Amino acid sequence: MNLQKRTILVTGGAGFIGSHLVDKLAKDNHIVILDNFSSGEKENVSHHEGKSNIEIITGDIRDGELLLKITKNTDIVYHLAVQCLRVSIKNPDLVHEVNATGTLNLLRASLENSVKKFIYVSSSEVYGTALKVPMAEDHPLEPTTVYGASKLAGELYTLAYYRTYGLETLVVRPFNTYGPREHLQGAYGEVIPRFVLRLLNNKPPVIFGDGTQTRDFTYVSDTVKGIIMASECDSMTGQTVNIARGQEISINDLASIIAKNLDKSNIRPVYEQARPGDVMRHYAGISKADKMFGYNPDIDIEKGIGFHIDWFLSQKYDFRELLKNETILNW
Ligand SMILES: NC(=O)c1ccc[n+]([C@@H]2O[C@H](COP(=O)([O-])OP(=O)(O)OC[C@H]3O[C@@H](n4cnc5c(N)ncnc54)[C@H](O)[C@@H]3O)[C@@H](O)[C@H]2O)c1
Repeated sequence: MNLQKRTILVTGGAGFIGSHLVDKLAKDNHIVILDNFSSGEKENVSHHEGKSNIEIITGDIRDGELLLKITKNTDIVYHLAVQCLRVSIKNPDLVHEVNATGTLNLLRASLENSVKKFIYVSSSEVYGTALKVPMAEDHPLEPTTVYGASKLAGELYTLAYYRTYGLETLVVRPFNTYGPREHLQGAYGEVIPRFVLRLLNNKPPVIFGDGTQTRDFTYVSDTVKGIIMASECDSMTGQTVNIARGQEISINDLASIIAKNLDKSNIRPVYEQARPGDVMRHYAGISKADKMFGYNPDIDIEKGIGFHIDWFLSQKYDFRELLKNETILNW
């Protein structure tokens, strides 16, 4: 399916990945963003305000009637709205309602209104920790957290809607994504901006666990490129695909790369108790994405960290102020 002159709904479109996806899709399409701004930011989409091809709707994925209304005349749905992993540890019910039931609500409305394509943006957290690497799409699915389980429920509903009702759906599984607009603070704060912020304040990065856990960190432009390429590939209907860089890096090495980039290699990390349910190893197999639609990531980790830090510094943040209310929580 080509992505031109389509009406596209992006749920979670004011969030980190969603707003980058909107930036790409907005060039040639009419975009409707649905977001309740619980973790999304107005500033992520403010550069689109007033454009005739962008509509921003403040609303909730749990509101079935609203979903029925806004999926009318929609060609394509990209579903990214989510409550995050760290929220799931203390508030599993909310995470279930938004991530699992919210996905079912949106599938129901999409079928009712004959949406042509539904892309579910899932997560590598559905795998749990690696049992074999690289982790291809047929790797066992053993999520450790309620977040991972809720994302898996969303995947299974998405594929069931294809198998039972013929709604053209597909599942994209990104691995850890980083880059501009990533969350800095509170429960939503991600590891890279947290390390950057602490180092800029001459404080050691705080690592939960021993730092040997690995992730397949992927720069946001590569993640968005993969989501779009998967959705353009007609033979992906009813299928699932990983999107990642296809390399693993330990959190210890990540901290070193960031410190080196900031010229603060003399500041060594400190260690705190491991996060409950933390995955020990993630290393994606990306050969299916390559075979199906020629996907290959462009940005290596050193370059991506460099871009991210340049963006961070360009934001004119008050680094001391940002760190003032920091709480060190392993969830
Ligand atoms: N960031 C990553 O490293 C990563 C990795 C793999 C997969 N993903 C997936 O990518 C998608 C986007 O993640 P992100 O990192 O951009 O997260 P994010 O928190 O920045 O974005 C999620 C958006 O959903 C919105 N939202 C939350 N609850 C909502 C509700 N009830 N109704 C409407 N909107 C609601 C939030 O306000 C936010 O704008 C998610 O589906 C996530 O599972 C993210």
